[in-house]
Amino acid sequence: MNKGAKAGEKRALPGEKAKELFNLRNEYVPKGVFQIGPLFISRGKGAWVEDVDGNEYIDFVGGIAVLNVGHCNDRVVSAIKEQADKHLHTCFHVLMYESYVRLAKKLCEITPGDFPKQTLLVNSGAEAVENGVKIAKRYSGKRGVIAFENAFHGRTALTMGLTSQVRYYKFGFGPFDPSIQRVPYAYCYRCPYKLTYPDCELHCVKRIEDSFISYTPAEEIAAILIEPILGEGGYVIPPAGFLKGLRKICDNYDIVFIADEIQSGMGRTGKMWAIEHFDVIPDILLSAKSLGGGLVLSATIGRKKIMDSVDIGGVGGTYGGNPLSCVAALKALEAIEEDKLADRATKLGKISKDRLENMKERYDIIGDIRALGSVIGVELVKNRKTKEPAAAETKAILKNCQERGLLIMSCGPLHNVLRLMFPLVIKEEELAKGLDILEDVVKEVNKTI
Ligand SMILES: Cc1ncc(COP(=O)(O)O)c(C=O)c1O
Repeated sequence: MNKGAKAGEKRALPGEKAKELFNLRNEYVPKGVFQIGPLFISRGKGAWVEDVDGNEYIDFVGGIAVLNVGHCNDRVVSAIKEQADKHLHTCFHVLMYESYVRLAKKLCEITPGDFPKQTLLVNSGAEAVENGVKIAKRYSGKRGVIAFENAFHGRTALTMGLTSQVRYYKFGFGPFDPSIQRVPYAYCYRCPYKLTYPDCELHCVKRIEDSFISYTPAEEIAAILIEPILGEGGYVIPPAGFLKGLRKICDNYDIVFIADEIQSGMGRTGKMWAIEHFDVIPDILLSAKSLGGGLVLSATIGRKKIMDSVDIGGVGGTYGGNPLSCVAALKALEAIEEDKLADRATKLGKISKDRLENMKERYDIIGDIRALGSVIGVELVKNRKTKEPAAAETKAILKNCQERGLLIMSCGPLHNVLRLMFPLVIKEEELAKGLDILEDVVKEVNKTI
């Protein structure tokens, strides 16, 4: 019997059991590993979570966009159990297994581009990015990489350099790879050039070409690395033409276009990959997070001639494409396709967006709503005219939501964007309940601005 609070009911956090575990966490785990709150899970299913004190939550975070198919998806769990009885690890360099090659083929088939492709399976998102950049360099013989302001690509040495947000991802860890060149993203709500779309005629794209004159010649640029939708950087959806403009630059100067779909992919936008909305075909596509259905897995998928340019032994690793992760990923993809989760992302995204637009009419704190399918960002401001970011208020909203049984996270360089990343299997009544909690909390905090 559940002894804690139901979603919607107030609870004191941390609960007794969580307090004990949180003390252990504080004693034995470095503080650099951030937490959204003093929360310890006991179990989860779909978009429902129970903590160790028996409190229930509706999950709008999904392990940071990892659980598009939900907590403990039935298909994924049974495939893992079945695989666990056969073999757990061989290292693909030593003994190969069917699920790796089947998944590699599947990913080549379902990524954009009607040309031969190959897939490299690794572990984390950062590792997929590292490999994408590494392979582009080996293929092109060039060294430079263009990355964007407010981008997030990981926490390893190379990907930290590619990541834009300084605090706290990069602070104190430099210097970074000098071959990385940073340019502004098309963040229209806060245009870095103070222009307005479409009158700007995509000045941001033009500035990239200008950078070939002022900074690094195009002949030295191996790749443009971009998130089709900015994730950690604020759930920013670029205007039509931005990604196409970049593709054109890549074509003109023989630069590899790398799409980081680690957060935006796997059905969340209403299509399998976000880039499909923009009519652009990348040369390399990076996937992770929801790819493994909750297990550790990432993939670098690209044109065969690029992927195959690396010498034997140049890519790979001990754990890359673990058999449990491969079978889980095949089942996660099956769930997205057969359960039509991309269509569901469109439907759930519309429900959420309509509700949020309605809230925007009543609460001034909501400055901007950005949505594509179920990629939903809500930028909070103290003043709609000045757009002063409401960072402290955002923090208060997250905490109050947790205490009411809604798990939700923020993002953005100014720490003022709420992002909704609920599993795409969330029940409509759970979604409605979560939005009710969110509205109650936003209504309260709105009074303080
Ligand atoms: C777009 C993007 N790229 C790369 C990464 C890094 O992934 P990981 O944390 O698995 O290394 C993330 C993680 O949030 C991400 O959102």
